[in-house]
Amino acid sequence: MKKTLYMLAGCLLAMNGAMAADQVSVERGGAKAWFCTGCHGYNGMGTHSVAPLAGRDAAEMTAQLVKFKKTRRSVMGSLLDKYSDEDLADLANYFASLKKTDSGVASFERDIQPILEWRCQSCHSDKGEGQHKSGLNLASYDGLMAGTHQGGDLITPGSAAGSTFFVMLTRKDHLRMPYGAPPLSDDELRVVKAWIEQGAKNN
Ligand code: HEC
Ligand code: HEC
Repeated sequence: MKKTLYMLAGCLLAMNGAMAADQVSVERGGAKAWFCTGCHGYNGMGTHSVAPLAGRDAAEMTAQLVKFKKTRRSVMGSLLDKYSDEDLADLANYFASLKKTDSGVASFERDIQPILEWRCQSCHSDKGEGQHKSGLNLASYDGLMAGTHQGGDLITPGSAAGSTFFVMLTRKDHLRMPYGAPPLSDDELRVVKAWIEQGAKNN
């Protein structure tokens, strides 16, 4: 009995320790985050041209950052030399701890527009290849709702599975959007799905 109690106490202490360590990591990350929010927006909420970080999965983000640093791929690769892998995990833990949609309500302006600007508009706006071929202009809510020049509606409010827009993001063949680029992250797909299911409003 006594032994069981000791074990229980040991477990509780260990859990407490783990939680405290997470909290310390979040705090350390917060102290370093100013450099990141310069581009990723206030509280990591994202801007019209740079992806949001707030509320994303910490492990996924850490892995992404470590890879950016190692491969020196893209804009991010060249920015991370001064951070240790532990620093990167701290930053990821910090941004993951911030809530992206406190109310649980997805917003076109806050959540969807940055994705369109960042991942789609290079092709789906004036003279882009995607707009040229499909007629789809993703520079605005109205453009998205107007659909393709074949007259196809892309959004069925309330049903992500019934919306070509969502289907194109999750296809398994070469036509998956963004065309020829890595797919949207799980977090981005989640917020797109939530936004459509909540009625695809211009909010
Ligand atoms: C100079 C502007 C700039 C700064 C500063 C910056 N980033 Fe970025 N970040 C970008 C851009 C642009 C992209 C997207 C393009 C790319 O893949 O390089 C990006 C991509 C990312 C991604 C991948 C997002 C995704 O969904 O794929 C993560 C994670 C990230 N940044 C985290 C950070 C962290 C953490 C910091 C602070 C150490 C930081 N960034 C600082 C501009 C910046
Ligand atoms: C590198 C360029 C490129 C990027 C980036 C891109 N697209 Fe496309 N998109 C295309 C091209 C090209 C077509 C036309 C494909 C065809 O019909 O052959 C297309 C077609 C589409 C269509 C129409 C499908 C149909 O039924 O006709 C949708 C919807 C779409 N894209 C959504 C997106 C979304 C959402 C993003 C961003 C997440 C995106 N695209 C990013 C190039 C791009």
